[in-house]
Amino acid sequence: MNKVQFTETVLRDANQSLMATRLPYSDYADILPTMDKAGYYSVECWGGATFDSCLRYLKEDPWERLRNIRKNMPNTRLQMLLRGQNLLGYKHYHDDVVEKFVELSIKNGIDVIRIFDALNDFRNIKTALEATRKYATPRTVASGCISYTQSPVHTVKKYVAMCKELKEMGFDTICLKDMAGTMSPYEAEGLIKGIKDAVGDIPLILHTHCTTGMAYMTLLRAIDSGVDIIDTATSCFSNGTSQAATETLYYALTQMGYDTGLDEDVINKVNDYFKPIKQKYIDSGLINPKSMATDSQALVYKVPGGMLSNMIANLKDMHAMDKFDEALLEIPNVRKDLGYPPLVTPLSQMVGNQAVVNVLMGERYKQISKEIKNYFKGEYGIAPAPVSQELQDKIIGAGNKPTDCRIEDSKRTGQEFADAKAALGDLARTEEDIMSYICFPDQTVKFLKERRAEEEHHMKYSITEA
Ligand code: CO
Repeated sequence: MNKVQFTETVLRDANQSLMATRLPYSDYADILPTMDKAGYYSVECWGGATFDSCLRYLKEDPWERLRNIRKNMPNTRLQMLLRGQNLLGYKHYHDDVVEKFVELSIKNGIDVIRIFDALNDFRNIKTALEATRKYATPRTVASGCISYTQSPVHTVKKYVAMCKELKEMGFDTICLKDMAGTMSPYEAEGLIKGIKDAVGDIPLILHTHCTTGMAYMTLLRAIDSGVDIIDTATSCFSNGTSQAATETLYYALTQMGYDTGLDEDVINKVNDYFKPIKQKYIDSGLINPKSMATDSQALVYKVPGGMLSNMIANLKDMHAMDKFDEALLEIPNVRKDLGYPPLVTPLSQMVGNQAVVNVLMGERYKQISKEIKNYFKGEYGIAPAPVSQELQDKIIGAGNKPTDCRIEDSKRTGQEFADAKAALGDLARTEEDIMSYICFPDQTVKFLKERRAEEEHHMKYSITEA
């Protein structure tokens, strides 16, 4: 019997895609013991924007959240998304910090670490992989992840080469991450078959979004082509900018003879549990109906939906919506000049903003953003294809080359963790507190101060009571 396994995303990606990651732990604590019996390959519950959101908006300690999930779901693999050397933020951290972050993630309950780099520059995921190996438990899975995009240089051959490299690096599984939901069934078939032929013995995962309406067709074709694991969300938290529905795919695949390992009663219970929670956030306005709809624009313009809405907001701000069409046409040109980077954060914003500036100034690259300059200096990593020589000369000077080492190698102090510890003083009680501070300093100081004030208040209160 053919097998296909499911990763449930309601706690992380669905939460992030539909409601800006604002789902508090208390909303789902009660369903975790039930979810533990569903038979998922894994539950994605941490990493991505959950960490930032916990500290910034929800007044939750992200580490405590993870430990609580672990305690209530002892039998299920817990999964996180990690942006390689950027961890959960946008800057490149030093190797000692990356290693400590991975060590603490595993210690607090993570089993599967899905590691990616926006540019697919695998030098930026190597440290996280090595740390995963170093601190691995028998349950630990290191998953190498490829940011999927379409361009003249992103051929099946190129993706197959990437998969071979990830396998050689020592990853346990490989994931194709189609963040914009633009992978078509046709493309999926060619890609999955090509990869399976080349590295067939390593489990292959497809992560996609329903944004453009293709996800179900693409997943089905991918499964028929040999994909081993798919990412889905419980149906009330599925579709739109989120993943395809768990129960729907379970139904279709079971009928086709696939063994999913899922328990039908349990996955239905999970959906029943989340229905009123979803309604609560629709009523409060946190879930925007727009995020639940299908938007095929991304297929026409080959840019992710979020990038388009960002551009529209920028142009409206500048009272320049009449330049929208021109700016859209400029995006592929800027992307080509940059060597076809995948349009994922932060590159989607960088490319979109530069396209708008190029059009508004009436002259291309009259003004160049600091981020684009750093990109040409090589600070983000190696571009997928050669960049525009003319633009590179203009930015870093003719005859100069971008740095060929990782940016953290040239700036390394090895002191970042010790410095953070000193800066926090007695506000920090654990290594986890220090790590939160390194990732999000302002939010963490605020959070730790509030935690202390609250405890002092409680202490005073309990003494009075006695
Ligand atoms: Co995603």
